[in-house]
Amino acid sequence: MLQKMLKLIVFTCFITLGDAGLDLSVLPDTMKQDLVTVLSGKPLLDSLIRKNEILPENVKFYLWATKKAENYTLIDTSNPTELDKNDVTIVFIIHGWLETRETPWYEPLKNAFFEKNDRYYIIEVDWSPYASQEYLVAAFDTKPVGGVIGQFIANLHNNYSIPLDNFLVVGHSLGGQVSGFVGKKVQEITHTKLPRIITLDPAGPAFKLREASERLNATDAAVVVVIHTNGGIFGFKESCGTIDFFPNGGSLQPGCPVHTVAGPNDLSPSIFCAHWRSWGYFIEALSAPDSFQASQCKVHLKLLNKDLLCTNSETLGNLETTKTGDFYLTTNSESPYSK
Ligand SMILES: *[C@@H]1O[C@H](CO)[C@@H](O)[C@H](O)[C@H]1NC(C)=O
Ligand SMILES: *[C@@H]1O[C@H](CO)[C@@H](O)[C@H](O)[C@H]1NC(C)=O
Ligand SMILES: *[C@@H]1O[C@H](CO)[C@@H](O)[C@H](O)[C@H]1NC(C)=O
Repeated sequence: MLQKMLKLIVFTCFITLGDAGLDLSVLPDTMKQDLVTVLSGKPLLDSLIRKNEILPENVKFYLWATKKAENYTLIDTSNPTELDKNDVTIVFIIHGWLETRETPWYEPLKNAFFEKNDRYYIIEVDWSPYASQEYLVAAFDTKPVGGVIGQFIANLHNNYSIPLDNFLVVGHSLGGQVSGFVGKKVQEITHTKLPRIITLDPAGPAFKLREASERLNATDAAVVVVIHTNGGIFGFKESCGTIDFFPNGGSLQPGCPVHTVAGPNDLSPSIFCAHWRSWGYFIEALSAPDSFQASQCKVHLKLLNKDLLCTNSETLGNLETTKTGDFYLTTNSESPYSK
């Protein structure tokens, strides 16, 4: 299975798991134990309220301004003149636990946006000093980290008159939860919602026990898109956006192994297979706008005409959607995923 995953990653992202820094064997035992707990379906209790100090300078913003750019520009948040631009959509992409700017999904996602048109600035957020901590600590830090990013967006809006409509936030896993806190902070400062947050299997462990006000929720932006691929394990199971997509039911994904409780010493990156499908589907969906048709019927009875029963449909990669509700679709077990 690991080999299959490696193949998948090499194909889709031209990067190996080694480059992604995902060697689970080097994790401290407490972290391995947390993973085993999550895989066994038991809740991670985060009842202890921690208030961590975080340093804004540890959250870094790497700008890619054009498709042809050879390298990023590290943004100086006290003088972000490169972003003083009114005619582009500034997309903040936010990684999850144990990830960094080197995460294998940033590059293909960035390219997928640039393939659409040249009206994008892509900002790769790196909050790895906090994302590399123990899961529960990192989970607590999603709030202050989201606060730093939200403050930065509000500053750009206030100082450079960039309309809030020009911002888009995309986050995966704990980065999905960070995205919610970005939206909350922007609202707190500007009294206006961000137009859109897109979350790719936002993290479930620790968050499923929280009040909606302390996690990603449907009012964090005007439109909150959620793509659930590993709900109940690493992802958040219940609807928590304005529009929620549940590919293949939203919990297990075809082509991904079902993990029974693994011991701390036999954890492999394939435990994240279904969790990572969220970005695999989304990146493919951006490149093929009419793909991944989803409908509001959970089950399609092949004998019936589904158009009569489920007239309301939406595509997974529609960046303009304002539809609301839960949408279902099935995918192939390997790339190309769209049926
Ligand atoms: C990109 O820039 C960084 C620092 O500015 C540098 O360390 C890195 O080597 C550059 N990468 C490439 C591919 O030029
Ligand atoms: C933008 O505005 C904020 C808040 O008013 C201020 O603290 C910050 O220094 C300003 N930044 C720039 C680059 O002008
Ligand atoms: C979402 O979170 C915000 C801020 O924490 C809260 O005010 C709001 O009521 C929550 N919305 C929902 C639908 O729970």
